[in-house]
Amino acid sequence: MNIQELSDLFCKKFNTEKKGISSFFSPGRVNLIGEHTDYNGGYVFPCALNFGTTLLVKENNKGMFRFATTNFEKTGEVSIKPPFEKTGSDWYYYPLGVIDQFSKLGVSFTGLDFLFSGDIPNGAGLSSSASIEMVTAACINELFSVGINMVSLVKLSQKAENQFIGVNCGIMDQFAVGMGAKNKAIFLNCDTLDYELVPLEISGYKLVISNTNKRRGLADSKYNERRAECDTAVENLSQVRKIRNLSELSYSDFLALQDKISNPVVRQRTKHVISENQRVLEAIEALKSSDLIRFGKLMNESHDSLRYDYEVTGIELDTLVELARKVPGVLGSRMTGAGFGGCTVSLVKESSVDDFIKNVGKAYQEKTGLQADFYVAEVGNGTIKLS
Ligand code: GLA
Repeated sequence: MNIQELSDLFCKKFNTEKKGISSFFSPGRVNLIGEHTDYNGGYVFPCALNFGTTLLVKENNKGMFRFATTNFEKTGEVSIKPPFEKTGSDWYYYPLGVIDQFSKLGVSFTGLDFLFSGDIPNGAGLSSSASIEMVTAACINELFSVGINMVSLVKLSQKAENQFIGVNCGIMDQFAVGMGAKNKAIFLNCDTLDYELVPLEISGYKLVISNTNKRRGLADSKYNERRAECDTAVENLSQVRKIRNLSELSYSDFLALQDKISNPVVRQRTKHVISENQRVLEAIEALKSSDLIRFGKLMNESHDSLRYDYEVTGIELDTLVELARKVPGVLGSRMTGAGFGGCTVSLVKESSVDDFIKNVGKAYQEKTGLQADFYVAEVGNGTIKLS
């Protein structure tokens, strides 16, 4: 739906006129390399996509927040009076969590109508939740002249997800969605939040996102379990070397100290985190020196580490990656996001993209009975006010 159609729908749904409606946009993201490193204070290398969530908003002075979306039938109505509480799993708790954060900063409301419209597939690991959080954060920041900068909005949205939604995510998704820039990938140090926008020069190649369309059933609890395993590793290692997070160690530190980690599974998890950090640095060096073959190899190694050491892939992601790697013209393929379902990202020669989609799609369906979806990614800008 375009903005015109969305404004018509807004007026119909909330029985109001167009005057006074503001609109905002926030993208989804794909991570190119650096997975499960963000909450370990490590490096990530994501970029914003050119599709995402559009939000239309207007004050209603009715003492209520009213939430509607073009994506689900379900609407929400919540009193403006804090405290706000999450009492179910409906989609509108994501924007409500952000409102809760602004309320704690002292912003008071008289009532707002929200109409969201997203074109990020839900639960596909392309950050539909961070997108909805960031678009809400930008909107409230602007409408109420709160005056906080984008990086602070990123932190606020992550806090909403951690505290209100209860998912202990790192900062990568909200950062990529908020700070993305057209045709650039973001090299982010998740410990210091220092970042660099790196031109994504992959001329002759495309980033193809393949969606397993597997529902990410236990993803949140498994995610929190991995975080706890990393905390255990830090505790074990701290007996011999004071560290705040795993990313303070190099791979040779890991080799020297790994015996201090008593549980072999926790040792495997640590190996992934520390080697993945190293791969991000190498991948950026490869990209900067136009060595896409090396970049693709590092993508492959990243997936294999997530598969065998971090164990967050699963049959659907592994199948998509194995099939992708067989297609001539594919330099690398890996899962992206939290894992346990969701999407892969592959670096594919432009002239092979059609074959890729046809062959991988067919073989994937034969093997898993599921129909994959494919998106040729364009790298877009971060969160913005439209009008
Ligand atoms: C999810 C989380 C991120 C990050 C990735 C894994 O997308 O929201 O913070 O941890 O998983 O890299």
